[in-house]
Amino acid sequence: MNTFLLYYPFLLALLSFIFLLAKQLRSRKPTPNLPPGSMGWPYLGETLQLYSQNPNVFFATRQNRYGEVFKTHILGSPCVMLSSPEAVRFVLVTQAHLFKPTYPQSKEKLIGPSALFFHQNDYHAQIRRLVQASLSLDVTRNLVPDIEAIAISVLDSWSGKVVNTFYELKKFTFDVAVLFIFGHLNNHHHRELLKENYYTLDKGYNSFPTNLPGSSYNKSVLARRRISLIVSEIIKEREEKSLVQRDLLGSLLNFKDEKGQTLTHNQIVDNIIGVMFAAQDTTASLLTWMIKYIHDDSNTREAIQIEQKAIFESNDGGNHMLSWAQTRNMPLTSRAIKESLRMASIISFTFREAVEDVKYKGYLIPKGWKVLPLFRNIHHNPDFFVDPHKFNPSRFELGIKPNTFMPFGNGLHTCPGNEVAKLQMLIFIHHLVNKFRWEVVGSGGVHYDPFPIPQRGLPAKFWKETCTQGHPKITPRKDIKSGRKAS
Ligand code: HEM
Repeated sequence: MNTFLLYYPFLLALLSFIFLLAKQLRSRKPTPNLPPGSMGWPYLGETLQLYSQNPNVFFATRQNRYGEVFKTHILGSPCVMLSSPEAVRFVLVTQAHLFKPTYPQSKEKLIGPSALFFHQNDYHAQIRRLVQASLSLDVTRNLVPDIEAIAISVLDSWSGKVVNTFYELKKFTFDVAVLFIFGHLNNHHHRELLKENYYTLDKGYNSFPTNLPGSSYNKSVLARRRISLIVSEIIKEREEKSLVQRDLLGSLLNFKDEKGQTLTHNQIVDNIIGVMFAAQDTTASLLTWMIKYIHDDSNTREAIQIEQKAIFESNDGGNHMLSWAQTRNMPLTSRAIKESLRMASIISFTFREAVEDVKYKGYLIPKGWKVLPLFRNIHHNPDFFVDPHKFNPSRFELGIKPNTFMPFGNGLHTCPGNEVAKLQMLIFIHHLVNKFRWEVVGSGGVHYDPFPIPQRGLPAKFWKETCTQGHPKITPRKDIKSGRKAS
């Protein structure tokens, strides 16, 4: 009996695989006229390769062999890979109505089927307007002091320690996401319960989707149910206190369509979890990369320090909070953020599915096929970015070719949180470079979780500059302008 239990998950995995394979073979259509990638056996092999290695290497090797539009098989589905800016624009912008977003069912179940990124058309447009409104510049500008307070408190907790940078940054980005979703959530009990359960949900996101009691996936499903109850309590408290707020929860609660219909509780919860999910790991992963890039590139780091020190000093050595105007005028740091977005390309690709047979430049993309716009391949293509593997923020001083830089996607589903993400990074970097020095501990390497992050979350030691021994104060260097060394 015990042995059976031990092997049960493996048996389940094997049976699921055989079932998927059989389904796939039954539904296999005649091969259309797309350039062939590896279309044959083994389907599972390609999926495992994709998830266990740098997706760029996975796709790039195939792109070199098969060109900019080619077919392959992953996750048991025939897929078309797109790595030219024109083809990506075709799918995400000009013919977006022919391609619907598609995610594995297990992920959809955890985030919630009513979350906006699984939808198209009217429902998507309605929810998107609400999400955009709660992340708009008008809302964001008023939250600068709050974001700054969160950044300072996270950074202070790192002082003198070796920390797992990614894991710690997840605390920062979680608290900022909560701010946009729930406003100033003063009820400490609700905040802690949300955090605890969201972390459990997050842990199971990439686990094997089995509902066996005790499995990570099952724990996530249960945590999700508890989050739904916590949101109910927060709503009840708002109603009792007659609180009307401009945060995301407020927008979702106040929504009525033209027929006077409001959103259901599940629609509200799914979109709250969806925005948390979209906001937390992405921004934390990008900031981790940026900390690594500017650690490794002393010229850029010093140039950013000079830019940020000038602002710090104009704020009386950090005695005044950052203003919105100051955050909008950090050109060098902004370029370093763009370059980090390009280099790390944390959203390497996205998934769509053809809703009907579609023709593109003489190729047929059959209905039901998955279509993957490969952002990272475009970001790392030497035809668009000279010396693409070099961290060089000054490349953004010059214009870049249209549709070649899409870290936040493109078209109807383009990231509504992009300004919020950039603002968080600017504020965090401002305090980091003004008050701290840091050393990365250990060697390089990349881990996929599913976003690429430096190995082991980038362990690093952080010192407060005032208590730094043997770490010199920054003095402006005359030979550096705009992140470039004068020749
Ligand atoms: C560095 C940080 C971030 C990156 C690189 C990023 C990237 C992206 C990308 C590429 C998409 C489009 C996906 C697709 O077309 O399939 C997207 C969508 C989305 N992002 Fe972000 N994102 C980031 C941060 C954020 C933040 C901070 C929020 C919210 C506060 C957010 C909320 C969303 C939402 C709600 C969507 C779905 C939009 C829709 O389907 O209409 N993101 N993001």
